[in-house]
Order: sequence, then C-alpha cells, then structure tokens
Amino acid sequence: MSVDYNTIKGQLEACGQQHLLKCYDDLESSSQSTFLDQLSRIPWDSIPSLVEQYLNAQSCSLPRGDVAPAEVTIADPETAAELASRGEEIIRAGRVAAFTVAGGQGTRLGWTGPKGTYPATPVSGKPLFRVFAEQIEAASRRWDTPIRWYIMTSEANDAATRSFFADNNWFGLPRTQIMLFPQGMMPCLDASDGKVLMESPGCVAMSPDGHGGSLGALRRSGAIEQMEMLGIDTISYFQIDNPIAPVIDPVFIGLHADPERSSGEMSSKMVPKIRPDEKVGVFCTVGGHTEVIEYSDLPSSLQSETDAEGRLRYDAGNIAVHLLSVPFAKRLSEQNELPWHRAVKKVPCCDPTTGQELIPEEPNGIKLEQFIFDALPLAGRSATLEVARSREFAPIKNATGTDSPESCRQAQCDLYGQWLEDNGVVVERDADGHVLASIEISPLTAMHSGDLAGQELPARLDQGDRLVL
Ligand code: UTP
Repeated sequence: MSVDYNTIKGQLEACGQQHLLKCYDDLESSSQSTFLDQLSRIPWDSIPSLVEQYLNAQSCSLPRGDVAPAEVTIADPETAAELASRGEEIIRAGRVAAFTVAGGQGTRLGWTGPKGTYPATPVSGKPLFRVFAEQIEAASRRWDTPIRWYIMTSEANDAATRSFFADNNWFGLPRTQIMLFPQGMMPCLDASDGKVLMESPGCVAMSPDGHGGSLGALRRSGAIEQMEMLGIDTISYFQIDNPIAPVIDPVFIGLHADPERSSGEMSSKMVPKIRPDEKVGVFCTVGGHTEVIEYSDLPSSLQSETDAEGRLRYDAGNIAVHLLSVPFAKRLSEQNELPWHRAVKKVPCCDPTTGQELIPEEPNGIKLEQFIFDALPLAGRSATLEVARSREFAPIKNATGTDSPESCRQAQCDLYGQWLEDNGVVVERDADGHVLASIEISPLTAMHSGDLAGQELPARLDQGDRLVL
C-alpha cells in the first residue's frame, strides 16, 4: 500500500515530531517509501501523551491502594490430584496452547542469536527452543492432542528464529502446530526533550514493546483468531529463558479453571523469595486485585516483614509463568490498557538535520515497554500457585553468576539427580547438596520423576559421570 507523504507530514506536525522529515528530500526514492511505510505504522496520536507521561517520570511507581500479600494456593497432594484431573480434562479437549515470548534482546547474556538458540542442557547442549519443542511433543503424546505452540519473536530476531526452526526441521513437530509472529515496536524518545530519535536518515530508532506487547501481537498476527477457530481457550505463557518451566501443567490449569479460586482470566505461578532483597517482582493484593510490585517499588519495610512463623510475608516471587484465557487476552489486546514502563538507555542515533551519526556515551534515549503482569489487576479474581524453585525456575539471564548458564546447568543436574534418587539411583552430591554428575533427561523420556519408574537406570552416578536419558 502506498503511503501518502502529506498525510504523514500532517500527523507528525500535529504531535511535534516533524524533525523526522528533515532529511527526507535527500533520500533515494526507495528509501523514502520504506521510511514512509515505517512512519505509517507508528501510532502518532498517542505519542504526545506518552511524552508527557514518561519524559520526566520517575521509574519508581508506588502502588496505589492498600497493599497486602497476595493470596497464594499451596496445593497439598490431595488438592494437586484434584486440580490435575480437572486440568487434564481441559488439555485432552485441545483447549490449551503453549505460548513462548522470545522477542527479547538478551543483552545481559550477550548471545548474538535469538536466545532460544542458546545451548542450555548440561550434557548435549540442546538449544532452548528444542527443549520446549520436546516438552510440547511429550505433552501432545501424553494427552493425545496436538498442542499448538505460538512463539513471539521481534523484528530483530524473527528471520533468524524462522531459519533456526527450518534448519532443525521444526524439531520434528508438524509445521502447522507452530506459529511464529513478531512483536510490536515502539519509537525511542530523546531523554532530554521527548523528540523521537532517528537511527539513521530514513529510519526511526525503534525498540521492542516489551513482553506485555504480546497481547497486541497475538491479535495482530491472527493467533487469537486461530485459537478461537480451534477451540483453544487457555494460553500457557512462559519465557524462553527458563528451560525447566513445565509448559503445560495440569495442576496449574486445573487451578485456573476452578471458579471458586479464579475468574479464569489470568493466573500465575510464584516461588518463595530466597531473601528479602532478591530482585524479583512480588505478587501482592492492591485494592482487592492481584498485582506484581517490582522489587524496586516494594518499600523495604514490607520486603523484610515476616509472619509469626518467620516466613517473609511478601515472598511470592514472580517467575513469569501465567495462564490467560483467550477472551481476556483478546479484550486486553483490543483495549491496549497496559501502562508503559520507561528505561533510559544508550540509543545510537543520528542528527535529524545533517544525518550525522551520534554515538551516545551516556544513556540518551527512553525505551518504552509494556509488561505482561500489568494485565493482572485487569482480571477479576486471579489465582497464584506456589511451586518449587528447584523444580520449575532456573532462568538464563546473565552471562555469569546468578541466573546464568552455569546456575541453570547446575539446577538441571540437581533436579534430574533428584528424579533419579526418587527411583533408587545413588547420586553423589557436594557439601551444599549439589549433584556432581552432569545429567540431562529429555521430556520425551520423562516429564517428572514418576515417569522414570521401570526404566533402565544406572545404579549410581558420581562426580564426572555424564548421563543423557
Ligand atoms: P527479559 O526481561 O529477561 O529481557 O525478558 P531480555 O530482552 O530477554 O534480556 P535482557 O534484559 O536484554 O538481558 C523476559 C522474557 O520476555 C521476552 C524475552 O524474550 C524473555 O523470554 N521479551 C522481553 C519479549 O519477548 N519481548 C520484549 O520486548 C522483552
């Protein structure tokens, strides 16, 4: 579709961003039309209010309303069995789809490709995408239904992600079971005056619109429409960087679908925080609704408050695993009510008049992102399920230290070592309780320790041993 220069010019003038067209006449005609096309996809009418709200906003936003710890479900074995049976019925009926958000830039890890291509398992180094593909295949077999897998990419990694899937023959899954789509982008603002930055002459500096942008992306891509057509009403949302997250969990699905505990719109998993100042968002109740308060926004007096048994009162750490109903995701995607969060970063850009490249030495630009957990207060009643960190949460975020490939590798060895011990294998551990052998168990072999019963297993595993099942 050809885009009219004068229409765009009018829109830019109306919101005080006409500087973007200063170099327009110097561009080649093909670059002019690519530029106009990019400009036409930016919602200019919302820019003035974003500038007004976020140019000088403090990054810390205090919760509005009375804050209390979130109500958390700790499922004892009997409750878990009940919930699982309800959840399994829903899965078998083909009502659940898996949804991975994989549009992030992975700057902290420093991996150049899409994060899903990162080798994550302790022995064979399977990439994250393969780990989840195997989980999806295992779940499809177990519940006898092809689980659909939706994956959100970004403009920056969409092509590389598609090639990776194609090169790996879609990890053996039917091609029709997987849908990839890119997330939206937002223009970066000059932190000093709110002017939209240009990356180069004829190109606005853009950044991904955050994992909260997944709601809009689900709708624009046609994923929501496809789900509706297929009778899928539940989206199992998880991040690309946590290889031990169970992507389809019947207990969680059963809880989400329990009308006594949840409105069935959006549910979450939590792990208890390790220490008061652990840098994770915390599920709280604010003004009667479940919300995640970011660690930097939770007053330190509340962070360290304990109950009669000495347990932190605000300990419900967010691990970014959610269930969303399709109607809820659709409604939110149409209303686009999630707030924006600003991050001031170094954004390479150019002078709009001369086109000269500007390499910032200090953070110069505002990037705007939406967060998925901001959808929680827009749901009716939201359920939060406590799960064990050792079983479900070992993210790869940083290159070293906490939440790094090494901590994730160790967490996998510890988890699979535990499964083997549950089945009578002697597993050597160090003084801190960490497993000394390298172990990996494919979801196609076992989805939990009970699946190993009756399988041929070694008698013991010691330091230096390597086992792939
Ligand atoms: P993170 O907040 O860990 O960000 O994303 P990141 O981009 O992966 O890593 P850093 O901060 O640059 O080091 C959490 C999850 O949300 C996805 C990521 O792919 C990851 O699964 N995400 C994040 C998106 O899909 N889009 C975004 O715009 C941001």
